[in-house]
Amino acid sequence: MNSEKIEIVICLGSSCFSRGNKEVTQIVRSFIDEKGLSDAVEFKGAHCFGDCNNGPSVKINGTMYNHVSENNIYDILEENLG
Ligand code: FES
Repeated sequence: MNSEKIEIVICLGSSCFSRGNKEVTQIVRSFIDEKGLSDAVEFKGAHCFGDCNNGPSVKINGTMYNHVSENNIYDILEENLG
């Protein structure tokens, strides 16, 4: 069994937060709960990633996802955690 946790870091800088990461945070939390992934995933917020123009942004194991929204976050999570 792989004991390495999957690290999800969501940008909570003011630009990303106000443009959708507020909602995306709730969706990621629900996804982790529904799938029983709380032991497998470390989910945390971060300050501005310095790339606001391409936000809202989320990093999963160091890979940056840009233009994240309520519409595509499920696919991104499924791709990494499904
Ligand atoms: S606020 Fe998210 S990259 Fe700047």
